[in-house]
Amino acid sequence: MKKIAVFASGNGSNFQVIAEQFPVEFVFSDHRDAYVLERAKALGVAAYAFELKEFDDKAAYERAIVALLEQHEVDLVVLAGYMKIVADTLLARYEGRMINIHPAYLPEFPGAHGIEDAWHAGVDQSGVTVHWVDSGVDSGQIIRQERVPILENDTLESFEERIHAMEYKLYPEVIRELLSHL
Ligand code: GRF
Repeated sequence: MKKIAVFASGNGSNFQVIAEQFPVEFVFSDHRDAYVLERAKALGVAAYAFELKEFDDKAAYERAIVALLEQHEVDLVVLAGYMKIVADTLLARYEGRMINIHPAYLPEFPGAHGIEDAWHAGVDQSGVTVHWVDSGVDSGQIIRQERVPILENDTLESFEERIHAMEYKLYPEVIRELLSHL
């Protein structure tokens, strides 16, 4: 059985959808008070949380993450709302085995506000992208992406909901596919 770990910084709705469909070895959060930790508890998924500021530097922080991944023999690292840029220490060990989901159609609207940026740009479609993680921001090789239209009567909230609905469909599909090839 291949093992996955999910990294999330906040709400964790993507984590929840994933954990309802796959055994998740553990969830990691870089915020000790993230709501995702409550979701993990309710679902009976092991959870770890520590914060960058508790370490001397990012390399030390990432060494602690790598130790967890190695201890649990994780095969696939699934970033789902993990709001930190992945640096050398983690990449050196897990590049090619780490994926991310972005709530826009990359390379359109990278960065932390993909949904709002598309909305305010006045485009008539955006989308969702799953990609491999590299050292850039939302720049890794694209695995799959789907368009999400912005409809005539959309509000930012209704558009956002449809983006998330697409994430909840797409991410499990990609994970299933990747696990079958690992
Ligand atoms: C998602 O929209 C994801 O694409 C982005 O951050 C959001 C996380 O939401 N990277 P949640 O924590 O899974 O609810």
